[in-house]
Amino acid sequence: MHDGGVLVTGGAGFIGSHLVDQLVSLGRRVVVLDDLSTGHRENLAPHADRVVFMEGGVEAPELCRRACEGVSDVFHLASRVSVVESIESPDLYREVVLQGTRNVLRAAEEAGVRRLVLASSCSVYGDAAPPISEEASLDPRSPYAAFKAEAEQACREAAVSTVCPRFFNVYGPRQRADSPYSGVIAIFARMAAASKSPTIFGDGLQTRDFIHVADVVRGLLLASGASAVGAGEPINFGTGVGTTVLELASLLGCRAPVFEAAREGEVRHSAADPGLARERLGFESRIALQSGLADLA
Ligand code: NAD
Ligand code: UD1
Repeated sequence: MHDGGVLVTGGAGFIGSHLVDQLVSLGRRVVVLDDLSTGHRENLAPHADRVVFMEGGVEAPELCRRACEGVSDVFHLASRVSVVESIESPDLYREVVLQGTRNVLRAAEEAGVRRLVLASSCSVYGDAAPPISEEASLDPRSPYAAFKAEAEQACREAAVSTVCPRFFNVYGPRQRADSPYSGVIAIFARMAAASKSPTIFGDGLQTRDFIHVADVVRGLLLASGASAVGAGEPINFGTGVGTTVLELASLLGCRAPVFEAAREGEVRHSAADPGLARERLGFESRIALQSGLADLA
């Protein structure tokens, strides 16, 4: 039974706006809090009359409180998302990723929210050997990863029911390619369409577990409703399949790549053990990379 509204922080962004699409189609009343630093109002345009949009940052406790009024469920996705940018601007990441999460948690507690789902990241594992289970020890290699790990801990200590999906590399329609901090699939797809050579950082043999945004949204809805979680558990959202960056360039039909030095703070290999998500949430990814890449508009 859901009688209150749903708050999606970061709801104007890539993953958040896909989640809002689903929530609206389920008939939920949706509030979005987003500072539009990387998100876009157009992502919410189809729902202009169904979504209450609040422009502002999760760094502001009062704004978080107002956003939580009358809300029973929270999806906290607002975040800066780049490993590289976090090394350049660690203070910004502390403020947004860690303090922002604390502010949203506090506001959710005060509003009597039923459950808060935090978008965490597999980057907290560092260089753990795949397949990576939630029991692997944490080894964050960047401020982004370290603050995500601390944000999870804040969830576990909060007086509100929480769960912390750790997304592996998410891709799909609406992922922006226009920043050096964008995700690799969006960047490579753009280069392929323009018949330009992509740049590969390192030797291209690093692996990532690419999961389609539609699968992630389905997992988020399951995480929000599942009775088998609620104490801030980390849960992997991945496919279990690692793909090299070189293979990805080839799947996208890219021209021969240019190679540059590997990026600082990067993990080498990443692929999820998806077992706990299956067990606790009944969640499994369904979209294989080849078919997901065909749908990147
Ligand atoms: P995105 O940049 O498209 O979305 C983030 C949204 O948060 C944007 O709309 C942005 O404007 C908003 N935002 C940023 N700082 C904010 C602030 N201080 N206050 C309010 N809003 C703010 O990125 P995304 O890929 O959709 O990421 C969504 C979430 O998923 C993030 O928490 C990210 O860390 C997490 N995540 C993403 C991936 C991935 O591969 N894309 C992997 C792991 C985790
Ligand atoms: C991504 C997410 C991060 C998330 C993490 C989980 C983005 C921007 N970052 O980080 O929020 O927590 O997944 O795993 O979505 N690469 C190239 N050339 C390029 C761009 C990237 O070779 O032009 C390489 C990178 O060096 C890296 C791989 O592709 O090895 C993936 O990079 P990227 O898409 O930026 O994601 P992550 O750093 O894995």
